Amino acid sequence: MQLGLLGKVAVVTGGANGIGLAICEALCAEGAHVMVADIDGNGALRSAEVLRAAGGTAGSLLVDVTDASSVDALVSETVGRFGGLHILVNNAGFTRDMRITKMAESDWDAVIDVVLKGAFLCTRAAIPHFERNQFGRIINISSRAHLGNPGQANYSAAKAGVIGFTRAMALENGRNNITVNAVAPGIIDTEAVQRLPHYEKIKSAAQKSTPIARIGAPADVASVVAFLASGQASYVTGEVIHVTGGRY
Ligand SMILES: NC(=O)c1ccc[n+]([C@@H]2O[C@H](COP(=O)([O-])OP(=O)(O)OC[C@H]3O[C@@H](n4cnc5c(N)ncnc54)[C@H](O)[C@@H]3O)[C@@H](O)[C@H]2O)c1
Repeated sequence: MQLGLLGKVAVVTGGANGIGLAICEALCAEGAHVMVADIDGNGALRSAEVLRAAGGTAGSLLVDVTDASSVDALVSETVGRFGGLHILVNNAGFTRDMRITKMAESDWDAVIDVVLKGAFLCTRAAIPHFERNQFGRIINISSRAHLGNPGQANYSAAKAGVIGFTRAMALENGRNNITVNAVAPGIIDTEAVQRLPHYEKIKSAAQKSTPIARIGAPADVASVVAFLASGQASYVTGEVIHVTGGRY
């Protein structure tokens, strides 16, 4: 694609692995300068090296998206290093699945914090820079699980919350030429999913029950994110794009 992202500066949270890394690769391939922000600092470092080896412009930072001072430092370091900020991808997240009666408060809080509070803190820190540019792109990674999944009360609530947050931010910031959209992936073949004990079952179920008869790839999500980050999507805001191979 030629998306006109040359020289645009992007922060990708959770960019060290899986979908986040694929998003970093897609943005770098389009000429964006990418800051890989991850609580896995070594992973972020390695990913930035891979991006640079492929000809991209990338830096990395150990960041905890649930911590306001860590997030504020991420934004100021990115602006200091690359001279601005234009794109934020709120991708950091994880599951902690169990039935509601087994779910400890800490299991609830951990998932809500990383997904929802993380998106809030990063967005709050980025918006003043976007306002200054009169240009901004925020892409929030939700999940098909926003529709509700058994064993995922915390995750489904957080990912549904991301959609409400996306719509509120789209309405609040549109006047400054800032678009805010969500991407809701189905099952995507990342290490986080490969580590699940029932991975093989998930994979064959996806092949049987998904109209596009395969499990998703990180690049399937990344290309949609890159499009939403670009000038080509300048009249698209407050939307949720499902990347599920047609499975609901
Ligand atoms: N893989 C899927 O099937 C799938 C489906 C739908 C949505 N998603 C969402 O996509 C996103 C990426 O998922 P993935 O499968 O690539 O997982 P992943 O575990 O490979 O990547 C998530 C990254 O987030 C980082 N992270 C965790 N806590 C953090 C924190 N507090 N601060 C900063 N970084 C933190 C992790 O270190 C990791 O690098 C998540 O939001 C996930 O919920 C994944």
